[in-house]
Amino acid sequence: MARAATTASAADFVPARLSLSALREAAAGCRGCHLWEIGTQTVFGEGGAEAEAMFVGEQPGDQEDKAARPFVGPAGRVFDEALDAAGIDRSTTYVTNAVKHFKWQARGKRRIHQKPNWAEMTACRPWLEAELAVVKPRVLVLLGATAAQSLLGRQFRVTQHRGELLDSGLAEFVTATVHPSSILRGEPEERDAAFAAFVADLTVVGDALKR
Ligand code: URA
Ligand code: SF4
Repeated sequence: MARAATTASAADFVPARLSLSALREAAAGCRGCHLWEIGTQTVFGEGGAEAEAMFVGEQPGDQEDKAARPFVGPAGRVFDEALDAAGIDRSTTYVTNAVKHFKWQARGKRRIHQKPNWAEMTACRPWLEAELAVVKPRVLVLLGATAAQSLLGRQFRVTQHRGELLDSGLAEFVTATVHPSSILRGEPEERDAAFAAFVADLTVVGDALKR
């Protein structure tokens, strides 16, 4: 009898004992999808298991790929400024991505970000689920469509639900907003308004943390 084809995923690499250090170590050797071949290294989440808020981005970018830390490049600077404006101390949070290797295409000497596809998001989701299981954040914040759809389903539309507290069993408070890089991509004259709207969404997070 023919065996059903199994699809590789991070699930084959997640350790039985769940702790952030064990997860981080195991994720460094993940071969759950083909992206390990093109990224420099796994960029695992950053923060303590006691964090009350967890932020999930899309995937590491060029600078994150080199530094092995999430949100340290241009999008990270927007994120830091917005957190600051919303009165949230990043050092008390847990920050991670839906996909943990940088997916890119060469354009000249530059490495251009490529959106992860559904198969890659699905393959990498076990790491995110394991991070959620360890950190158990009170507030879960999904930054952009990739993070939101990975955890809430492909039908989820950030544009329709940004800044709302969502009905989800993933955490006490779950919300989605735009990805900080969308603010950088917008027209310069629209940036201030886009940034203010992002901060307003993060203020919902700050308020939830005070409850
Ligand atoms: N964009 C993301 O989604 N995550 C990062 O870590 C950096 C840029
Ligand atoms: Fe593993 Fe995720 Fe990297 Fe794919 S992207 S190899 S599933 S850590």
